[in-house]
Amino acid sequence: MTFSKQFVLGTATASYQVEGAVAEGGRTPSIWDTMCRTPGKVLGGDTGDVACDQYHLFRDDVALMADLEVDAYRFSISWSRVIPDAVGPINPEGVAYYRALCEELHSRGIKAVATLYHWDLPQVLEDRGGWTNRETAFAFADYARAMATELGDVVDMWSTLNEPWCSSYLGYASGVHAPGRTDDLAALQAVHHLNLAHGLGQRALREVLGKDVPVCLTLNLHVVDPASDAPEDVAAARRIRVVGNEAFLGPVMDGVLPDELREITRDITDWSFVQDGDLELCHQVPDVLGINYYSTSRARQADAGELASSGGHGETGASPWVGCDDVTFLPVEGPTTQMGWNIEPDGLYRLLMEVEQRYPGLEMMITENGAGFDDEVVGGRVHDIRRVDYLRGHLGAVERAVADGANVTGYFLWSLLDNFEWSWGYSKTFGMVHVDYETQQRTPKDSAYWYRDLSRTRDLETVGDAWVAVP
Ligand code: NOJ
Repeated sequence: MTFSKQFVLGTATASYQVEGAVAEGGRTPSIWDTMCRTPGKVLGGDTGDVACDQYHLFRDDVALMADLEVDAYRFSISWSRVIPDAVGPINPEGVAYYRALCEELHSRGIKAVATLYHWDLPQVLEDRGGWTNRETAFAFADYARAMATELGDVVDMWSTLNEPWCSSYLGYASGVHAPGRTDDLAALQAVHHLNLAHGLGQRALREVLGKDVPVCLTLNLHVVDPASDAPEDVAAARRIRVVGNEAFLGPVMDGVLPDELREITRDITDWSFVQDGDLELCHQVPDVLGINYYSTSRARQADAGELASSGGHGETGASPWVGCDDVTFLPVEGPTTQMGWNIEPDGLYRLLMEVEQRYPGLEMMITENGAGFDDEVVGGRVHDIRRVDYLRGHLGAVERAVADGANVTGYFLWSLLDNFEWSWGYSKTFGMVHVDYETQQRTPKDSAYWYRDLSRTRDLETVGDAWVAVP
């Protein structure tokens, strides 16, 4: 058997990407509601107003997950649904929604994994500076405490933040994510306050829940290789890793602000936003390190006078890679997904082994992995063979890492459903289940049946072709 029965084979979504019902049940706007209403920010002017309407259809979606025999559902809580003013009293209707979702999951034997922050900051907090304001970190801790109190008995694993790299650098440096700002200092403040939010949030969860309920932090650690062995290319790739990975691992895992980060971002001279004692507060090693992995990249030192093409400039022309204007990324080679991301399962293997070597024994879960491809519904089926290949390759990488000693205990396929892919709107389709946005009809793709067979056999070798024959 590749994966034991205890190994969690789950699936994931996030509140703003699937829930819809943005103005129902007492929910107030988040920064993504605002972003979607800002012309030119989201492809096609798409919004999360309706999305997959999971707010109304969650019982059907849980039934679907039960049919697909997934072990766990990783969803996120919309902060402005449960605390409409972001600080202060909870909204019982909002909390009741998540309680009902968790109870429905449990009634079908599916574990509930709740992320507290998957990018939809209440707009009222952004109006006070958002993640550039340290008060946001304290508000987050209060929110975490309130959720643990309200939902502690029905959530099996908590996650503080999802991909703070995106919230900080895409939100405040490149501006392709909400709140759409392009200010390097603001981005570094956001990085720090998100680390602080994790630390304070994890403490708050533990205060209410004790040590028995696991707490996770999900990072999208970047696997960036140098374009050559030349020292300047090696240093260029290192700079990307420092800004992308060490900026979070340093404070949270090791309790330090890396000197390299300050050197790379030397244009920022005022670090007074890091106050005495903050790093101790950030330093909260999670029980489970969540890893979101999709692809790899290769970086080199930009030539003199060359305009660095740092990945992810997007519409704004600004780079998320603060302090890395002298780094350029190589064009992607080989097959890519809809996002233009390369497909390299070995990158996941290497990443898991690297984390294992650095933090021996640390429990890890792949909290997201998957791929967007152009799918087509033909006769009620979606033959998404490329997605099956992608999943097979990446789960194979996980299997190898486990065999080589990495303590990986779960994998969550991104995503259960096609959904709102942020600034790309509905144009990207990551679901193992196709969604018709006119009718809200769900159609499991072949990859969903493949994943179900894996859940049954637990064996990548013998999962075979049974899934192809599903009527
Ligand atoms: C990571 C994010 O957490 C998720 O929201 C997003 O849809 C996927 N990556 C795919 O881009």
